[in-house]
Amino acid sequence: MAQVAIENVYKTFPKLRQAAADVTLDTEHDGLAVLKRINLTIDDGEFMVLVGPSGCGKSTLLRLISGLEEITGGSIWVGDRKVNDLPPKLRDTAMVFQSYALYPHLTVYDNLAFGLRRMGGDLETSLPELGQKPLPPSDSPANQELERLLTASRWWEKPLVSITRRLPPGLRYVSEAERLIDDRVRAVAKMLQIDLLLGRQPRQLSGGQKQRVALGRAMARNPQVFLMDEPLSNLDAKLRMETRAQIVNLQRQLGITTIYVTHDQVEAMTMGHRIAVMNQGQIQQVATPLDLYNRPANRFVAGFIGSPPMNFIPVQVQAPFLLIHSEFRLSLPSEWDDRLVPYDHREALLGIRPEHLSLALPAPKNIRGHITHMEALGSETYLTVQGEGLTLLAKIPPDEVVRVGDQVWLAIAPEKAHLFDPTTELSLKKP
Ligand SMILES: Nc1ncnc2c1ncn2[C@@H]1O[C@H](COP(=O)(O)OP(=O)(O)OP(=O)(O)O)[C@@H](O)[C@H]1O
Ligand SMILES: [Mg+2]
Repeated sequence: MAQVAIENVYKTFPKLRQAAADVTLDTEHDGLAVLKRINLTIDDGEFMVLVGPSGCGKSTLLRLISGLEEITGGSIWVGDRKVNDLPPKLRDTAMVFQSYALYPHLTVYDNLAFGLRRMGGDLETSLPELGQKPLPPSDSPANQELERLLTASRWWEKPLVSITRRLPPGLRYVSEAERLIDDRVRAVAKMLQIDLLLGRQPRQLSGGQKQRVALGRAMARNPQVFLMDEPLSNLDAKLRMETRAQIVNLQRQLGITTIYVTHDQVEAMTMGHRIAVMNQGQIQQVATPLDLYNRPANRFVAGFIGSPPMNFIPVQVQAPFLLIHSEFRLSLPSEWDDRLVPYDHREALLGIRPEHLSLALPAPKNIRGHITHMEALGSETYLTVQGEGLTLLAKIPPDEVVRVGDQVWLAIAPEKAHLFDPTTELSLKKP
């Protein structure tokens, strides 16, 4: 197990640079960078979730950590080893992809054993690439033992294996390394409940089963770090939920440092110890799920975390506590102290989540509008309410009797209000 530290990581792709060769760029190609000065530390044993819109650089960051992609600038540390220049197989990370990437011609058993069998051979052949650098020590005693068995010259094992290959399974010679691999494969298969599928090939498995084999392959390697890139996105809702719980339990049980990419809100909020929110190649905020929800650092995070998304309304500030809009006047609670004084008689952006709006009676602090759209989910109802110059999304209890076209009044829960600077978009709340 290990801490992962990402320091000032920068990534540009050569093709993007070529395509923009005639454009004047600053020295660091900022405009073209897919990742811009990423700083993030994932603690030993932590489950870190990376979220962000499509194309923000999540997969690229995982690929840089795993070594599948070369870093342009900065450093990546796994434990106390800087891994920038190490090939993927020496980084002691195991990646699980969205597309399971199983070997189609191998059985489940061999898919699980594949990475383990390659440990010895790979380490040997990768030595010249590294210019004879000494092998990094593996943290796990079990891996050290396996590496030793696989790399040690056990000249007498090969002929024994080939002589006994045609005998019934009980009489075949099994090398010591293979015995260790077998133990590990069976233990992992049992944990993921795929032990009855070991003899099958991937085409004979369902999506969920394939996904568990892909997870098992990563687990069998007993890596210091799991890297998971949207591993559940091909599963149906029920299986997704089950597998989600399974991954969380396994991670907590094994304590392996995990970086998990998703753009599913629920996964992000329920799986991670902490969440890093990314946008356009930069980290916007790193915090626990509830902190992100309650104290988003800026407008982007406020709008990204939470579903349906937060409503934003431009308002005029009258310090210390009053917000004025042509349709309503809202008094904020006294916790805001004097934070709004610099914004007196200036504009700010009020943020209010749909669940913090409720149906109310006419009043100057409430907003009048009519319902233009309604989604009754059974457990709750979403309303789109069109007011004078503003459209709001409200989440109300399912038993409220309203219909599309109705005129309604919405009340804002003042203690749940967020405010953002209209230019910097930073939150004005206490950090
Ligand atoms: N090999 C490449 N060459 C050029 N550009 C690339 C390459 N790989 C990724 N990109 C670009 O880098 C940006 C980040 O891509 P990345 O795959 O990391 O996004 P992502 O956050 O994982 O998105 P998604 O949620 O859609 O998977 C995108 O704009 C993408 O077009
Ligand atoms: Mg991706």
